[in-house]
Amino acid sequence: MCGIVGFTGVAGAVGILMEGLGNLEYRGYDSAGVSVFSEGKIRTVKARGRLQNLADRLKESPLEGSCGIGHTRWATHGEPSDINAHPHGTEKLSLVHNGIIENYVELREMLKEKGYSFVSQTDTEVAAKVLDFCYEGDPAAAIRRASGMMEGAFAFGILFADRPGEIYAVRRGSPLIAALSPEGNFITSDVTAVLRHTRRYFTLEPEEIVRLTADSAVVWGADGKEIQKEILTADWNVEQAQKGGFPHFMLKEIFEQPQALDSTIHPRVHTGLPSFASDGIPDGFFRDIDRVQVIACGTAMHAGMVGRMVIEKLARLPVDVDIASEFRYRDPILTPRHLVVVVSQSGETADTLAALRLAKDRGCPVLAIVNVAGSTIAREADHVLYTFAGPEIAVASTKAYSVQLGVLYLMGIRIALEKGQVSEEEARALISGLLDTVEKTKKCLEMAEPIRKIAETYRETGSLFFIGRGFDYPLCCEGSLKLKEISYIHCEAYAAGELKHGTISLITPGVPVVALATQGALLPKTLSNVKEVRARGASVLLICRESAHPEEDLFAHRISLPEADDLFMPLLSVIPLQLLSYYAAVCRGCDVDKPRNLAKSVTVE
Ligand code: M6R
Repeated sequence: MCGIVGFTGVAGAVGILMEGLGNLEYRGYDSAGVSVFSEGKIRTVKARGRLQNLADRLKESPLEGSCGIGHTRWATHGEPSDINAHPHGTEKLSLVHNGIIENYVELREMLKEKGYSFVSQTDTEVAAKVLDFCYEGDPAAAIRRASGMMEGAFAFGILFADRPGEIYAVRRGSPLIAALSPEGNFITSDVTAVLRHTRRYFTLEPEEIVRLTADSAVVWGADGKEIQKEILTADWNVEQAQKGGFPHFMLKEIFEQPQALDSTIHPRVHTGLPSFASDGIPDGFFRDIDRVQVIACGTAMHAGMVGRMVIEKLARLPVDVDIASEFRYRDPILTPRHLVVVVSQSGETADTLAALRLAKDRGCPVLAIVNVAGSTIAREADHVLYTFAGPEIAVASTKAYSVQLGVLYLMGIRIALEKGQVSEEEARALISGLLDTVEKTKKCLEMAEPIRKIAETYRETGSLFFIGRGFDYPLCCEGSLKLKEISYIHCEAYAAGELKHGTISLITPGVPVVALATQGALLPKTLSNVKEVRARGASVLLICRESAHPEEDLFAHRISLPEADDLFMPLLSVIPLQLLSYYAAVCRGCDVDKPRNLAKSVTVE
């Protein structure tokens, strides 16, 4: 949420900052701005709307200079506008911010009494002026003092007018890393923003302060002492973070799923059995666990819902799944024998992170399923199982979901083995079923064209329902979230048997219903629910197995999935749901990769 990039080096900063902001635009895209040391002072250009508006403005008012900071915003305090866009500053400094300053109202009042005035509605302008108030010539001392006055989460990139060529940064809660290259040094919210220049980076711990020049990086710890950082190398490369000939990142990422699943699952299968030993989780780890608590948001939470069914079914171990933002409010009952599993693509989601911290406070072991190496959740969890999906750029999560399922399947089989619920032979058969199903995801991708034609029938749709039972229900939740997120069609997901308890009153002639009926054992029951909506005139898209033979007059459209065990069908059924959302959004003229009001990485609670 909000993207920060800073560069100090030998080349012109503006081009590098704009390129970095382009790569970070998925984090927020309602306004953008840059500040650059130019002609002996800090000069700032900002613009409401997409990055192109800022690019146009920079053509009118070019900024020369080789040191600067940039920001792409997802509004929290104050509407998207030129004034509210970052950077914010004073004569002494310019600052970009990701996060929320919770006590900004009190700080603003304090500063007003000291004679400061404010032009924007943002908490960031308050942060800039707190820093101005604290600044007496020593940047690190001022940052430390100002940070101490601020409550909440933040990552700041800062230029001080009397320190040309230097960038300062600090973080608490919100992500920020420093990256190093022979051409100069960077700060960035996400390493993908600078992959074209370097893969070498280091992370910042909370309250650490970094000073970058073109050829140096100095870090001070919270106690003010200089510290050495370990330099890491990003696994991702620049091609992975590009569209590679696809019209949108989302479509590219949907098509990357077989490969991503393969990369995530294969390294964890040894002699046909699942093992997390190479992830540092020894065999026997799950033996004494009494209960599993899954916590996540959005799509990751939907993966958790499938994971619950897999673990309960295979390992006969109770599993709870909670929305991270609600978890703490029910004062959860947790013991050290509860394994808390947090699931997050970005590893930075603020609600998930807060839930993780609560679980750790209660003494639970925390295992994170995360896609972004070195992210805050990965660092704070006791154990990490990385998903190897590569960078997911589209705001709508697709391949990250599938690989989360991949890890949860492996975990379910591993727990079942350690709990003695399945024999080695049975576990091997399950793994073989899982690998076969991964292979069949390729067949699902071949259905893109017929699915595009079905999606076109939703061009004018105002409201749509998803129904399904068993494993199909969490898939309905995911299909519904995906469709509303990017196509702006109002959707609801219902357990098929629940519709008749109220919501069926909304089914009138012509209302589209997507019925997921992939579960062999539940097919007759789900088809009864399809009959109920058909009887009220619904236009049904039926997604079922190739082998199913429902009556032809039950559906307007049918998508037939390859055969797999009921347990693994979610890996297949999610693909047509993703494609349906994608093509519906395209035909409705929506901005697929950057849907309105959203951002990829939700780093505010
Ligand atoms: O990075 P995370 O997996 O923690 O993100 C969680 C949700 O914000 C995310 O899955 C969101 O729901 C997606 N935009 C859905 O496509």
